[in-house]
Amino acid sequence: MKNLEGMLQPGALKDKTIVITGGGTGLGKSMTKYFMQLGANCVITSRKLDVLEKTAKELEAETGGKCLAVACDVRLYHEVEAMVAKANETFGSVDALVNNAAGNFISPTERLSAGAFKAIIGIVLEGSINCTLALGKQWIAKKETNKAVLSIVTTYAWTGSAYVVPSATAKAGVLALTRSLAVEWAQYGIRMNAIAPGPFPTKGAWDRLVPGDFKERFDLIKRVPLRRAGEHQELANLAAYLVSDYSAYINGDVVTIDGGEWLQGAGEFSMFGDVTSDEWDIVEKMVRGAKSE
Ligand code: HXC
Ligand code: NAP
Repeated sequence: MKNLEGMLQPGALKDKTIVITGGGTGLGKSMTKYFMQLGANCVITSRKLDVLEKTAKELEAETGGKCLAVACDVRLYHEVEAMVAKANETFGSVDALVNNAAGNFISPTERLSAGAFKAIIGIVLEGSINCTLALGKQWIAKKETNKAVLSIVTTYAWTGSAYVVPSATAKAGVLALTRSLAVEWAQYGIRMNAIAPGPFPTKGAWDRLVPGDFKERFDLIKRVPLRRAGEHQELANLAAYLVSDYSAYINGDVVTIDGGEWLQGAGEFSMFGDVTSDEWDIVEKMVRGAKSE
């Protein structure tokens, strides 16, 4: 299996500068590492400068590439503008944005305050809007083309999901933003795409979505037809492709990478996976013998 290897050819992202929000941890860090291995200059941004600086140093040593750490709360437009200015100052211009920063936790919705909703909608939806708008305005004003925005959503952006309602609401909005601007901004040479990952182990997500003994009580892997979680390199490969010139004709799409998870959840009879062959023999006899009224 080659799924743990980098997929694109060396230098595939050379001369590109990529901003990755939430790039200091989890999937953002894994994508950043691979972008740097492919020759990109990266700008990682989140609220915790110490985390960002540690990651930037580690990835520069590992890849020999360049990584700028900039503290920025994506909920605040003026901080986003300042972050973009720093990126331009350091690398000349920005070629791609990965809207990856997120906030999420499980909770029955009736237990949430308005502030809890606001926190998640602020990070996920307003944050993605702020970063997309700040960069998009600039690209359009400067008549710069061949730009890409990639947003990390989830499969419940279109199905919705109980117990993570603020996140589902926000991710649905990010998907609508992606599809809308894919049409409106194509004329300016800006492509908009999204990735919808299934379960990929990260501390940020796992501690908030399957805390304590929930990991044992609720088997996430059983929900996935391929019976495993995603590997970070698999997501990094897809993300690198979607920000690269190789995907120049892909615009307005959302690519699912979940081992078939959401379709298993959606299918009416998906629960029959555990039925044994002997049991199917008996079932077949019963079904063949069934008579209409
Ligand atoms: C109910 C909660 C809560 C909880 C916080 N709040 N945690 N309510 N249950 N567990 C409420 C607070 O009381 C407050 O409301 C409001 O939410 C904001 O909380 P703060 O702690 O002040 O917010 P902030 O410091 O901005 O932190 C944001 C955060 C935190 C989202 C709450 O968890 C965070 O920093 N997360 C970032 C990383 C993250 O979440 N990563 C996971 C992404 S995983 P009041 O009313 O008191 O103001 C993901 C996976 C999707 O998205 C798909 C999986 C398959
Ligand atoms: P993570 O490590 O917790 O990443 C979230 C990042 O967002 C953190 O680095 C965090 O940094 C940053 N962030 C939060 N609030 C911010 C703010 N206001 N401004 C700027 N940055 C902020 O979790 P992850 O699992 O890697 O998630 C990455 C992305 O994948 C998210 O979009 C998530 O929804 C998506 N996703 C993950 C999974 C999964 O299984 N892991 C599945 C589907 C989708 P600070 O705290 O320093 O700000």
